[in-house]
Amino acid sequence: MTYTTLTFDVADRIATITVNRPDKLNALNADVIRELGLAIDEARSRDDVGGVILTGAGRAFVAGADISGLAARTPVQAHALARAGQVVFSKFESSPKPVIAAVNGFALGGGCELAMSCHLRIASEFGKFGQPEVKLGLVPGYGGTQRLVHLVGKGRALELLLVGGIIDAAEAYRIGLVNRVVPAAELISTARALLTSMLANAPLALAGCIELANAAWEIGPAEGQVMEAARFGVLGASSDMREGTAAFLEKRTPNFTGA
Ligand code: COA
Repeated sequence: MTYTTLTFDVADRIATITVNRPDKLNALNADVIRELGLAIDEARSRDDVGGVILTGAGRAFVAGADISGLAARTPVQAHALARAGQVVFSKFESSPKPVIAAVNGFALGGGCELAMSCHLRIASEFGKFGQPEVKLGLVPGYGGTQRLVHLVGKGRALELLLVGGIIDAAEAYRIGLVNRVVPAAELISTARALLTSMLANAPLALAGCIELANAAWEIGPAEGQVMEAARFGVLGASSDMREGTAAFLEKRTPNFTGA
């Protein structure tokens, strides 16, 4: 697959998707959104990919929706744009393969929303986060109001949403918006190391954990536990469960096959 607004590289079972419009701080126009959807579909479908890193070229992760096209849209077009972006971002969130956002710089507006659609967020010390849409007369349109509340709680989310300010990586870590902050030179290697340790585990179990964690913010705990028990039961019949338990008892490293 050939992309024009991003790069897609695979090494050691990790796909790295890099949004590549550095002169516009990787702002999300319709082409970027469309290609992000194609790229996560490619990563999800390829057998040689077990996990994904999403990052940005240059000094930004993604500085938001491309503001240049926003004012010309009719309400119907703007609504369709938001829904289309939401569908693409949900593909990252629902990926059965772990996705880590490696936030190298500005993650504002749609960029913060994109990072929040990933399963984990690692920031460099240059990471900057915010939902400044109110300054443009807008609300976030790519799931930001919903995911932010879940990630940092309603009070902190509303402070970010209503002030529209920008917080640094240390503050993002303090409020639980990012998992870790590391020096810029170690950003990608940290994300790779984390993914590598995840990929040593059973793929179906990884997919199960992601699905159940996603379910936790959509359904209640009782229903979630029914789902959890069902997944626990199904995985109990998997080859990888037999391999994992046998390897433990035989004091050896398991060889998981994803079956
Ligand atoms: N949409 C379109 N273009 C954008 C953009 C966006 N969201 N964010 C940055 N750019 C463009 C700038 O217009 C500029 O292009 P130009 O060189 O052709 O003029 C280029 O990226 C560099 O940005 P610039 O503003 O010069 O960099 P800066 O370091 O002074 O400021 C930001 C960086 C991120 C603080 C500033 O660009 C900004 O506030 N961006 C908008 C953030 C936002 O509101 N996002 C939410 C959108 S819903």
